[in-house]
Amino acid sequence: MNAQLNREEELILAIETSCDETSAAVIRGGREILSNIVSSQIETHRQFGGVVPEVASRKHVEVITLIIEQAISEAGIEAKDLSAIAVTQGPGLVGALLVGIVSGMSLAMALDVPLIGTHHIAGHIYANALVHEIQYPCLALVVSGGHTELVMLEEEGVFRIVGRTRDDAVGEAYDKVARALKFPYPGGPHIDRQAAAAEHAAELPRSWLEPGSYDFSFSGLKSAVLAAINQSRMKGLELDVPALARGFQESVIEVLTVKAIRAAKQFGARQLLLCGGVAANRGLRSRLEELCAAERLPLLIPPQSLCTDNAAMIGAAAHLKWTRSQFTGFDLKADPGLSLEEWSVREARPAIPAE
Ligand code: KG4
Ligand code: ZN
Repeated sequence: MNAQLNREEELILAIETSCDETSAAVIRGGREILSNIVSSQIETHRQFGGVVPEVASRKHVEVITLIIEQAISEAGIEAKDLSAIAVTQGPGLVGALLVGIVSGMSLAMALDVPLIGTHHIAGHIYANALVHEIQYPCLALVVSGGHTELVMLEEEGVFRIVGRTRDDAVGEAYDKVARALKFPYPGGPHIDRQAAAAEHAAELPRSWLEPGSYDFSFSGLKSAVLAAINQSRMKGLELDVPALARGFQESVIEVLTVKAIRAAKQFGARQLLLCGGVAANRGLRSRLEELCAAERLPLLIPPQSLCTDNAAMIGAAAHLKWTRSQFTGFDLKADPGLSLEEWSVREARPAIPAE
């Protein structure tokens, strides 16, 4: 095996194809981004108003080889220098995941280096490790197009989900509301901009669920927005789009931030980590900053380019497994329902000697 076995300075080529971004990155030592190439399919999917799985797979196939070659050359290394290949194993669209997995697996076989099947949400959380020093125990608020979760990490690489959405993910709710308000896909940034410019907010419900619950539900709120749109249409009134956007955003932000801060306090988190595509939301970031400052709770947020899907974050999460020699066999399968808790690192610390 020609893997570089230095535990701290390993070079991981990471591949991410779980949804509508084809991405490859080279990460040194789990922290340093040597390259992070992201090819977005948004323009293709926009005409359909959302991601079409079959189209996504085809687009990944078209560009994956080029993106991998670009990631290696931009990193200023050669393929033979790589220590391991990381691929997103799940969750995600099965056909899209497969493209990345097959490419990564072939490369790992050809180079005779280990393969590391990686969890997409672990990637979103560990995007923070590329720019910040994570301290444990900490709590992650994961807000993306497919996920809304509160994840407690008592120690490095060990995940415990304390709350999750029971219906729509927050990004999904943003996209559906935006679509009803006639904004193109992905709608999150449009709602964010409209909300910031609005003079007042439409009154919309907050979904707290049972007392003490850290779960979320956004489908009732989404339905309330759709009902308000229909009512104003029936009455022949002009729709106050900014007010609806602001009302929706305020409801989402209040529930997310209040629950996150409460959970962080209850579970003794030393830091709060915000991550996922919706972490780009300006309203959410600034409200969390205010609340965390008041609570003296350090808040970690990756830069925008590391919030949306990218392969660098997959390399950062794969590093957890690399340092513990927890590799994946070449029978790795795409797993759209991969459990984050089960993906946690096993205790055993490394068999790989530092050179
Ligand atoms: O994490 P991500 O890139 O993909 C998934 O893994 O799902 O998240 C994409 C989601 C989309 O739903 C998009 O509308 C949302 O993130 N998003 C935003 C903003 N920017 C992206 N939502 C609200 N405000 C934003 N500024
Ligand atoms: Zn994602």
